[in-house]
Amino acid sequence: MNVAAPRPISLFDMKAQQALIRADIDARIAAILDHGRFIQGPEVDELEATLATWSGAAYCVGVSSGTDALQIAMMAEKIGPGDAVFLPAFTYTATAEVPLVLGATPVFVDVEPGSYNIDIADLKRRIALVEAEGKLKPRAIVAVDLYGRPADWPAILEICKEKGMFALDDAAQAFGGELNGKKLGCWGDATALSFYPTKTLGCYGDGGAILTNDPERADLYRSLRTHGEGKTRYEVQRTGMNGRLDSIQAAILISKMSLFDQEMKDRARVAAAYEAGLKDVVKTPGVQAGAVSAWGLYTITLPDTQTRTAVQEALKADGIPSAIYYPKPLHHQPAYAAAHASALGQVPPLPVAEKLCEQVLSLPMHPYLDQGQIERVIAAVKAGLKG
Ligand SMILES: Cc1ncc(COP(=O)(O)O)c(C=O)c1O
Repeated sequence: MNVAAPRPISLFDMKAQQALIRADIDARIAAILDHGRFIQGPEVDELEATLATWSGAAYCVGVSSGTDALQIAMMAEKIGPGDAVFLPAFTYTATAEVPLVLGATPVFVDVEPGSYNIDIADLKRRIALVEAEGKLKPRAIVAVDLYGRPADWPAILEICKEKGMFALDDAAQAFGGELNGKKLGCWGDATALSFYPTKTLGCYGDGGAILTNDPERADLYRSLRTHGEGKTRYEVQRTGMNGRLDSIQAAILISKMSLFDQEMKDRARVAAAYEAGLKDVVKTPGVQAGAVSAWGLYTITLPDTQTRTAVQEALKADGIPSAIYYPKPLHHQPAYAAAHASALGQVPPLPVAEKLCEQVLSLPMHPYLDQGQIERVIAAVKAGLKG
């Protein structure tokens, strides 16, 4: 008797999704080949309208990547030398890279062990230190909704309001998430999205967007993404960059938006099944009251590196991939160590970020995992824990 081989499990599954919309994507790309407006064509306008409506933000500006979304948003505030930009030490490198590229100083803040997101008490402490030293001006907070889980936006906005700081939401991993009935995209003064292929909404190359409710900011973003263009094509109003979005990527994203609501439900289904199967044996990623995680990643926290290695090996033995986001906190990265040391005379430690780098493990997470696959992942994690 032939026994069917188990379906392979991938960390992210773009093939299953593509099979559902391949004909639509092919038709949309063919239409672009016909009309020939390859960069910022009508598909970009359509995508911007779709994403603004979906998220509830007044404006959406499509750009070339999540990194460029962060950069354009900070350029619009004229963030640069002498400015302190507060951001979590436990995130992807792009969050810290952008202030440095603009000549500003990133100030790394510790994260909460439960939410993995920026720790509000530590944030306040570091802002007070920067103020007391008087070398840098506290200008912006970039909070990341890590793994899809919303940061504590009400607390962050209160600080920004009190201090006159710019609130930038790095929602690169979190499009689809919401907090207190409001989608991510409406919380910060601006929200940066990444459409890197493995994100909750990903294209087939690089892409990104900035969401905002502020019409002046939206105008500035449009200008900055196109070399600081003024009212007419060759009027250069300000120093900008090439941060434009391709029509083909926009078309792919429009097509994927037809699946997005169902995919969000399926990500929640997968997360709930993992939670039920793993909550008694390992620290699972909860979600705070009033929040909806976008479940960009499903990340468990293990007691130590040794246990994590054992779990990773047990997963691998059953052909199941896993990944570590992130193995090193940003203040330990060679590229950022000097900026970290110079930001504050007295640098408080960042123990939670450092510890999480030894403990976190991301399991396969995408909307097309079936119950059998989820159960295999759970069984492998349990096997790894038994050692
Ligand atoms: C938290 C975070 N910020 C920023 C980015 C940068 O996005 P992109 O790769 O589209 O430039 C990413 C992408 O991985 C991310 O995860």
